[in-house]
Amino acid sequence: MLIAAAVGVLGMVAAVTVSTTPADAAASTLGAAAAQSGRYFGTAIAAGRLGDSNYTTIANREFNMVTPENEMKPDATEPNRGQFNFSSGDRVYNWAVQNGKRVRGHTLAWHGQQPPWMQSLSGSSLRQAMIDHINGVMAHYKGKLYAWDVVNEAFADGNSGGRRDSNLQRTGNDWIEVAFRTARAADPSVKLCYNDYNIENWTWAKTQGVYNMVKDFKSRGVPIDCVGFQSHFNSGSAYNSNFRTTLQNFAALGVDVQITELDIQGASAQTYAAVTNDCLAVPRCNGITVWGVRDQDSWRSGDTPLLFSGNNKKPAYDAVLNALNNAGPGPSNSPSASPSASPSTSPSSSPSASPTRSPLPGGCSATIKTINSWGGGFQSEVTVQAGSSAVNGWTVKWTWPSGQSISSLWNGRQSTSGSSVTVTNESYNGSIAAGGSTTFGFTANGNAATPTATCTSP
Ligand code: XIL
Repeated sequence: MLIAAAVGVLGMVAAVTVSTTPADAAASTLGAAAAQSGRYFGTAIAAGRLGDSNYTTIANREFNMVTPENEMKPDATEPNRGQFNFSSGDRVYNWAVQNGKRVRGHTLAWHGQQPPWMQSLSGSSLRQAMIDHINGVMAHYKGKLYAWDVVNEAFADGNSGGRRDSNLQRTGNDWIEVAFRTARAADPSVKLCYNDYNIENWTWAKTQGVYNMVKDFKSRGVPIDCVGFQSHFNSGSAYNSNFRTTLQNFAALGVDVQITELDIQGASAQTYAAVTNDCLAVPRCNGITVWGVRDQDSWRSGDTPLLFSGNNKKPAYDAVLNALNNAGPGPSNSPSASPSASPSTSPSSSPSASPTRSPLPGGCSATIKTINSWGGGFQSEVTVQAGSSAVNGWTVKWTWPSGQSISSLWNGRQSTSGSSVTVTNESYNGSIAAGGSTTFGFTANGNAATPTATCTSP
């Protein structure tokens, strides 16, 4: 009798536990599935297709990050020297933001898609034009973007591991770091990425060339926050499972990594799943962007490389969705990992990475930084950092020391009571991967102040 009762109780407990497993919560769109681990799932959007309701229905439903396919490139944004045009870029930007999505800016300094006037420049006048271009475009989108591909495709294919020859390269080898320094000053709120293709295979010379540049930039304090791996996979540049090693090794340098233009010739479901799992295995892999919505939208439509054919989900779509759903609520931080007393031996990531700060023990932290100040007001950026576990929802609080008041706040929701400020996440930035971070910003009245902030997550 007694034993039977005990078994009955245990059975109930087990039943309750089972009913709350994450399997119940499988998400039904790519964006929602990626958000479960604090990541995004994006697509390239072409302004010219926004009138196609089949296109916008899929794009709006599935993706929560947008890259303008051509609309923020130099030929689009500065068709004549000193004369900027943001009409197409803003069409894509506005569509994205009005539908609750974030935007990756693409791209500021590139040998491709330059306006004719820029193609014909060289030397110091081209260098100045590049700086002016970065300042002009970044001023327009200041505080509005998730990331910028500051420099695109600066390395050569083949075995040299060196720079690609271009008019920009001929202005001097320092053009890339000048671009990044200019970009940081123009908009300190946006992640600054280097973006390239054929840098996914760890054994390739081009990958090593970019890796060494990022390592050098980090060691000298050149501002760089992320590396974008375009990931255009085809027979000439096939996916290799060492992509995960590449992502891990770059992340160990102290940058975020993102898959920025994914398409796969033939759209093998298995390869799409492998790429997705590679990103999911690396805490600093923020998200994946596919380079178009349907095969017919692809720049390589003959390769049928995307996740949709017409209105239909392809097998690759299901493979990606399942991989994202199987990842569970956060990047793998197995709680069973040695809680022993020995000081955590940092994982010896292959080519000597500068020691990264050991992760906080779970929960989150917040730091307030002054970005800008003027008579009677200031602008701040608050970094919300996840500890060793992923965060799903956060609340940051602080108290103003001397009568400051917020005039406008973005990427968060504020409630204020006297001098106490409480900010909670927006729907799109509540999930932060373990060790990852997000930022919100505000402008305020009064003298610039950086009070200590607390962060809690449910
Ligand atoms: C491509 C676009 O998809 C095309 O519409 C355009 O004609 C050429 O550029 N690497 C990049 C992207 O960084 O900007 C490119 O996009 C594809 C390769």
